[in-house]
Amino acid sequence: MAKSRLLRLWLVLGSVFMIVLIIVYWDNVGAAQFYLRTALPRPPPALGPLPSAGPGDQQLSPAQILEKLLGGGGGGAQQPAPETPRAGWPRPQASRRPGPSNLEESVRGYDWSGHDAQQSPDPDGRQAARRSLLRESCANASLVFPAKARSFDDIPNYELNHLIVDDRHGVIYCYVPKVACTNWKRVMIVLSQSLSERGEPYRDPLAIPREYVHNSSTHLTFNKFWRRYGRFSRHLMKVKLKKYTKFLFVRDPFVRLISAFRSKFELENEDFYRKFAVPMLRKYSNHTSLPASAREAFSAGLRVSFANFIQYLLDPHTEKLAPFNEHWRQVHRLCHPCQIDYDFVGKLETLDQDAAQLLRLLKVDERLHFPPSYRNRTASSWEEGWFAKIPLAWRQQLYKLYEADFVLFGYPKPENLLRD
Ligand SMILES: *[C@@H]1O[C@H](CO)[C@@H](O)[C@H](O)[C@H]1NC(C)=O
Ligand SMILES: *[C@@H]1O[C@H](CO)[C@@H](O)[C@H](O)[C@H]1NC(C)=O
Ligand SMILES: *[C@@H]1O[C@H](CO)[C@@H](O)[C@H](O)[C@H]1NC(C)=O
Ligand SMILES: *[C@@H]1O[C@H](CO)[C@@H](O)[C@H](O)[C@H]1NC(C)=O
Repeated sequence: MAKSRLLRLWLVLGSVFMIVLIIVYWDNVGAAQFYLRTALPRPPPALGPLPSAGPGDQQLSPAQILEKLLGGGGGGAQQPAPETPRAGWPRPQASRRPGPSNLEESVRGYDWSGHDAQQSPDPDGRQAARRSLLRESCANASLVFPAKARSFDDIPNYELNHLIVDDRHGVIYCYVPKVACTNWKRVMIVLSQSLSERGEPYRDPLAIPREYVHNSSTHLTFNKFWRRYGRFSRHLMKVKLKKYTKFLFVRDPFVRLISAFRSKFELENEDFYRKFAVPMLRKYSNHTSLPASAREAFSAGLRVSFANFIQYLLDPHTEKLAPFNEHWRQVHRLCHPCQIDYDFVGKLETLDQDAAQLLRLLKVDERLHFPPSYRNRTASSWEEGWFAKIPLAWRQQLYKLYEADFVLFGYPKPENLLRD
């Protein structure tokens, strides 16, 4: 008798324990789903573990599941970002940062003065306005530019090489050179843990050396999907485009050109000297014998002028040889904003506020801070000076060449430069 009573007691206790387990389990799943709908979309489970996934992204072991059920801070990567332990994410410390690893960064330096960002989720409805302008301009038949009307499926793979994917947080970043892209790429490396130093993923964006940041093998980009996923790659891209948070940063198109000129032709850049400066000097300045290196050319006072650069951009032969280099290619050709419905359009002109807002939107603002701006950033107020020696007809042609970027991203037509 005593035995069967004991058995019954065990049965009851066991059932209660099972019910508690189920409640705890559903609570967890429910929370995750709530998170899925309201905040960052997570990759659908059907896609399975993705190659870019870091070591933390593997399936949870039974021990980890138990730990999770019992409320331990197992912190597997399957959990939404806000639940991951924050203690492990140190705030950036100035002392841990190595010195600038590159000419460009050492010339410009960082401005550590810091700016307090606004706390509202969308200050002044700024994002809503930028996104609706994009949608309206894409739908407006009076704005015409090449390849505007094609569908996402018609974009060739090699034109998708600027879309960096982070499966850990469900983020896609379209990088635009000359628009803080080095630092946004660094943020993507930290988020996706795609790069480690002595087995430890980087946690401070500024600790990542610049040469790694711009090595394309560091990033998972859409153009690499074909080799990984074959004929499923387009479908997979579309699933991610639908579920993930997509962002890009833009800048006044003419100011971006000045910035590109400053960094690639005013500083001694051997690659750009050989590839672009030499042909420009030959073609537009009638130089026949040119030194083999930028160093020699600079000491001999031979430099491409801003006018040479504009002439190169306007020359109809230029793009017959190869598409524009990414530093001066139009943003709409790099990021396809009429085919991809961006969730966040940042601007360099409001970088500090936009960066803070975006990191909050991505729910990583507690552990990540966007590096500060450059001290000597190219400013819009310099435009008139830079364009003073450029013939009016060239300026007008140049505006036509970049008009779509002006319109799509809400930069006013620079009337002062386009009139006598
Ligand atoms: C389309 O663009 C033209 C030219 O910029 C503008 O005048 C017109 O108002 C726009 N139409 C709509 C529906 O926004
Ligand atoms: C980029 O990274 C890969 C792999 O780490 C390396 O083999 C390659 O040499 C790097 N390329 C450059 C240009 O640094
Ligand atoms: C370069 O040479 C051509 C033909 O010899 C001449 O027409 C042109 O004006 C020259 N350009 C410059 C910038 O000297
Ligand atoms: C900023 O850059 C401009 C031109 O690129 C240069 O003339 C100026 O001296 C720089 N200013 C500082 C403070 O470095």
